[in-house]
Amino acid sequence: MRSKRFAARARRELALEPLVSPLPELGLVAANGPNDPEPELALDGERVVRMDGRDAEEFDVIDRFVVAHGLDLGIAEEAMALEDVEIARRLVDIDVPRAELVRLSRGLTPAKLARVVGLLEPVELMLALAKLRARRAPANQAHVTNLAESPALLAADAAEAARRGFAEMETTVGVARYAPLNALALLIGSQAGRPGVMTQCAVEEKRNLELAIRGLVTYAETLSVYGTEPVFVDGDDTPWSKAFLGAAYASRGVKVRFTSGTGSEALMGHAQGYSMLYLEARCLAVVRAAGSQGVQNGSISVVALVLSLPGGVRAILGENVLAAWLDLEVASGNDAIASHSEIRKTAKLMGQFLPGTDFVTSGYSVMPRRDNTFGGGNYDADDLDEWLTIQRDWQVDAGIEPVAEDEILRVRERAARAAQAVFAELGLPPISDEEVAAATTGYDSNDMPPRDRAADVEAADELLARGVSGLDVALALDRRGFADVAAAVLGMQRQRVAADYLQTAAVIDEHGLVRSAVNDPNDYAGPGTGYRLDGARWELLQSLPQVVAPDALVDEEDAAEPLVRERGEAGVGDDPSEVVVAVGPAFGKTLRRTIAGLDHGEVLHAVCEGIREGGAVPRLVRIRRVADVAFIGHDGARLSGSGVAVGVQSKGTAVIHRADLEPLDNLELFGMAPLYTLESYRAMGRNAAGYALGRRVGPVPTELDNFARAKLIVRTTLLHARETKAVVAEAPPVELELPASVASAQ
Ligand code: 5AD
Ligand code: CA
Repeated sequence: MRSKRFAARARRELALEPLVSPLPELGLVAANGPNDPEPELALDGERVVRMDGRDAEEFDVIDRFVVAHGLDLGIAEEAMALEDVEIARRLVDIDVPRAELVRLSRGLTPAKLARVVGLLEPVELMLALAKLRARRAPANQAHVTNLAESPALLAADAAEAARRGFAEMETTVGVARYAPLNALALLIGSQAGRPGVMTQCAVEEKRNLELAIRGLVTYAETLSVYGTEPVFVDGDDTPWSKAFLGAAYASRGVKVRFTSGTGSEALMGHAQGYSMLYLEARCLAVVRAAGSQGVQNGSISVVALVLSLPGGVRAILGENVLAAWLDLEVASGNDAIASHSEIRKTAKLMGQFLPGTDFVTSGYSVMPRRDNTFGGGNYDADDLDEWLTIQRDWQVDAGIEPVAEDEILRVRERAARAAQAVFAELGLPPISDEEVAAATTGYDSNDMPPRDRAADVEAADELLARGVSGLDVALALDRRGFADVAAAVLGMQRQRVAADYLQTAAVIDEHGLVRSAVNDPNDYAGPGTGYRLDGARWELLQSLPQVVAPDALVDEEDAAEPLVRERGEAGVGDDPSEVVVAVGPAFGKTLRRTIAGLDHGEVLHAVCEGIREGGAVPRLVRIRRVADVAFIGHDGARLSGSGVAVGVQSKGTAVIHRADLEPLDNLELFGMAPLYTLESYRAMGRNAAGYALGRRVGPVPTELDNFARAKLIVRTTLLHARETKAVVAEAPPVELELPASVASAQ
């Protein structure tokens, strides 16, 4: 036997991805693995003789690096003596300041760090992250790439990202030789969008460093570290070589953070039986020991593997907390596709989105997914409105700003023009006007006119050979009349010399002021403290372009001629074939249409016609004392010669009522006003006549729109507010004269 419900679920997107049970031998266990060592630290004077299950003689390259550079032995004795749960409690205790927790972290071994974080529940992890984040305000990082490696499109996308508030942006290449051109386009576009945005081009380290020294990029996050020795060896690296490279970047005024993340060791076949979170604690100990100001972590490219395991999402949040605890800037994943399921993806995102991290995504794809050469973005251009709406829903700043379409078109065009100008000045293959136009308004690189790609890669090689620098770019912009973009590009060169932005968690504002954990530290200490989304920033993040004032959803009616004329108080009828049509206080007066947009006159016409078709006689009254459809209908029924009435609210909700029923009981209720057509109202009239004349009546067929509420509840509220405003307490019902349109149809 098969259940059709199980079969339906098996066709959902979630079913495309495997969920597996833990297999610790292969490192397929998210946290608290059975083979993870007991935390321990044994000292012989100033020498570490044993750490986390290994004697000094057995230390691998990671242990040795951490022991040499990553542990503060002056704190270790005190910190390691604390119970795991005691430290875990301090992480969420708002009365234990961040600085104290950071101090303690310096004396904890990787196994202890992982053990403590492994004790926290999801909401505790979120609180800890909100408290431990380095910089006061969260920010976000963008990915900017396209399959065609179109420089105009890169520049336009970079400008849009900058204008939308991304503090950093990252490009990469499909074809390695493009790197200088992509870095150039990103630099120009970013500064055209908003001065001060930092850029990087993720490529092989030698080239990366070269681009940085030339001033074509300002930061790097390509320095990967791993939690076991064999993975380092496979990459021809050691923690020392990585630390040396990190220092090389920093020494040239280039911001740098490392990359690590749960699951990479299992993926590369060298997890040595340890859990992902424990190995990540080792990575983070290395990152801090190497002197990096920060890390991109949260599984990153391996996220889907971690999500195949129980507790995977929680472990990823745990590793972000670990990094923040170690006083590292955190660019928290959410960049690679985590799941096919939108629900699951977003559920995972909330772990970082709600507490806020230094960069909530380590790459939000500002272009549609197919152009993301990082392998597709977890969130992309098509998701922007959702992201903005969720920020607005939670009153949370996750680093993206709403911007109106005309402004986006303006900055995209200007950036593409600036790139066109620089390409011309530097003698690079020209960017055509058609490319500028397509980059401004196009959807993705499919909309771009083709370029001579052989010429581009040749020019890219030559650009590096010529030694073109950020200063040359600024000069080219200045010569071509882009003085402001030139000044911004020059500003980025100046930042490299000043190097304030090498401080932990630095971002640069539009005036060139660096905000980092040094001059703008996170001071969260419970309610009323820390970063709050309020004031002008909250005004900005709630004012999405599609937001309207509520009353704009309901047409203002000119109060000229009322649709129906009132003829004095309505009495009780004595014609047994009479069906009263009772309308609400605002019907045909201050309101003229139902929520489905039907003209009130035509609605009345349809109901009356239906009543006549059913062999009864309609009489119109207005109920003034209430706005509730049940009472409108019931009051009408008590006036009706047959005892039957159709009650119609102004928004179109209707009821067939009978005088002997309780007001909140009824014969038929029509609550789906948005779905009704004139034919529906005619059928209601026919049925009412049937009840009046004592025939057997089958209910009017009704439809259901499960989304009607989500779409229309605001309009419903506003329409109902108008109806209740028209209520006159205790006013008697009045007789209505049929409108000319209805009367003429008789
Ligand atoms: N651990 C370490 N490095 C990672 N990268 C992606 N995911 C991880 C991870 N979990 C690396 C990529 C690239 C850099 C930007 O990040 O391989 O080199
Ligand atoms: Ca990244």
